[in-house]
Amino acid sequence: MSESYAPSPELAAQANGQESLFAEAEADFEGFWAAQARERITWAKDFDVTLDWSNAPFAKWFVGGELNVAYNCVDRHVEAGNGDRVAIHFEGEGGDTRTITYADLQKEVAKAANALTSLGVAKGDRVAIYLPMIPEAVFAMLACARLGAPHSVVFGGFSSEALHTRIADADAKVVITADGQFRRGKPAPLKAAVDAAIAHGDDESPVETVLVVQRTKGDVDWHEGRDQWWHDVVDGQSDTHEAQPHDSEHPLFILYTSGTTGKPKGIFHTSGGYITQAAYTNSVVHDLHPESDVYWCTADIGWVTGHSYIVYGPLANGATQVLYEGTPDTPHQGRFWEIVEKYKVSILYTAPTAIRTFMKWGDDIPAKYDLSSIRILGSVGEPINPEAWRWYREHIGGGSAPIVDTWWQTETGGIMISPLPGVTELEPGSAQRPIPGISAEILDDEGQPFTEAEKVGYLVLTKPWPAMLRGIWGDEQRYKDTYWSRFGPKYYFAGDGAKYDEKGNIWLLGRVDDVMNVSGHRLSTAEIESALVSHEAVAEAAVVGAADETTGQAVVAFVILREEAQERADEVGEGGDLVQELRNHVAKEIGPIAKPRSIMIVPELPKTRSGKIMRRLLKDVAENREVGDVTTLADSSVMNLIQSGLQK
Ligand code: WT7
Repeated sequence: MSESYAPSPELAAQANGQESLFAEAEADFEGFWAAQARERITWAKDFDVTLDWSNAPFAKWFVGGELNVAYNCVDRHVEAGNGDRVAIHFEGEGGDTRTITYADLQKEVAKAANALTSLGVAKGDRVAIYLPMIPEAVFAMLACARLGAPHSVVFGGFSSEALHTRIADADAKVVITADGQFRRGKPAPLKAAVDAAIAHGDDESPVETVLVVQRTKGDVDWHEGRDQWWHDVVDGQSDTHEAQPHDSEHPLFILYTSGTTGKPKGIFHTSGGYITQAAYTNSVVHDLHPESDVYWCTADIGWVTGHSYIVYGPLANGATQVLYEGTPDTPHQGRFWEIVEKYKVSILYTAPTAIRTFMKWGDDIPAKYDLSSIRILGSVGEPINPEAWRWYREHIGGGSAPIVDTWWQTETGGIMISPLPGVTELEPGSAQRPIPGISAEILDDEGQPFTEAEKVGYLVLTKPWPAMLRGIWGDEQRYKDTYWSRFGPKYYFAGDGAKYDEKGNIWLLGRVDDVMNVSGHRLSTAEIESALVSHEAVAEAAVVGAADETTGQAVVAFVILREEAQERADEVGEGGDLVQELRNHVAKEIGPIAKPRSIMIVPELPKTRSGKIMRRLLKDVAENREVGDVTTLADSSVMNLIQSGLQK
């Protein structure tokens, strides 16, 4: 059976993203983006220059323009007469709900902006946000945007250690958090991690105020003079606030992501270019029609997907969307479909790892719900395997909804490679082509572009794009080294392997660096290794991402114990307990998402003569494969030693 997934004529006719966009962008790249910026965004002052790339790789977009991003996401919709439109259908984990119209959102954001001002937050100050998926997270982000105070959202699943590093690196003066968060039906503390992050070590914390949303009503330690309840500070504020315009290149946010070294990178994004691309892509890729669609992106706001496709893109477009606090299986495995049915969700954007989990739970679960409102499906975070793609279309999309497999990164700020649902003939498993306005190529080891089918190379981006990162916070050199040196300064190196098929579709093949992708979350091998060696029992550690049916990759660690720990493990057979302890230690240092699936205690690690750990060989072991070429090992017997040790 040949698979053909062309768009229906109805969709093709009414879709926002039309074929003609490709030609327009091709004919006049800057003119195309200037038109997007002027059409989709309200500027307080129009820009003079579309792109300044004279100081590459540091781009400036829409130079001379001024805008307020929060005004674009909120106020202008109210001014246009859409104040009564629902912006957010909030669905709490426990089933509590809240409906927030654009008029309500305007008031909430104004109050939060006034509150932050009263706490001394001024333009340019950094604010850390460590919150669950509750409406206050959106209010807080938009209040920061309104003031021009860059936010740094830290995923609520990260540990106090991780939070500490991020607060320190961005020098955040305020942290916005909650007393606790609901996880699988139970309240779990959250503020305690903020307390620990601030009290961490000997250095003085930059944090002056901790603003605490009351969510779970759990006990919290209170630091007089530093801690303030959100309801005390925000509720009494005036619900109007005059938004000031900011420069197009004013920093909007910092978002930390894992790189190839132990230290997370503070990816920073600015205003005009970012909001233009977020709005454009949400419109043409998700085909959002704000007057009729109900949109739902299931990501957490702690990741870039939540930034661009919950907060900035959809709100700039005036969307009605669902914001869900909980997990897919609480209180039951039909929870997502119950929500789709309840709100008549028409556009659903989720991750392959979730789709594979739903497949495992069984077709009968979604079959119990009315999913007929769905018309567009999206996928993000990792390659979607064709089986999961077909299941998604069949069981969630009623056999007919187009799936947009969207490739992008924290660094790109917005979607880069994806089908357009009204144009593209879909190819399951491939993200297909760069969207209009974006240019990508695949290079070989020597940095030569090629177009041959089935040959594997490296994905690069060949032109700047509006939502591109403007750098790594506080580290210009690392920005150049990481992205603009592997193939010279002309190419942005994405870190992903890729190939073309015979139709010219791009297939993404996973990371080519020491970065793992676990459930669509980026984790660095080096970061987990340093967490492991920070434990007293560990002398050395090597971490690999091993293929995993559900999560895409799973963390597998190999550790060499210190002598005393090894002796203890041998004598009293405490190895098992120790492994458990080490797994928990990683969760404590980084967060539960980084917890290794397994830890193997080994006598040696495979290294090259120059001392580099050969992770490729460890990956073979972790994936139960015959070990590959060992000739570059300094000591080729090491792999035998490791394998015989593991068989014991
Ligand atoms: C890495 C970026 C994009 C927001 C969420 C993750 C992988 C992402 C796809 C896709 C194949 C994908 C890449 C990329 N990735 N989407 N549709 N197909 N791979 O953002 O944490 O910055 O991770 O995720 O490896 O480099 P991130």
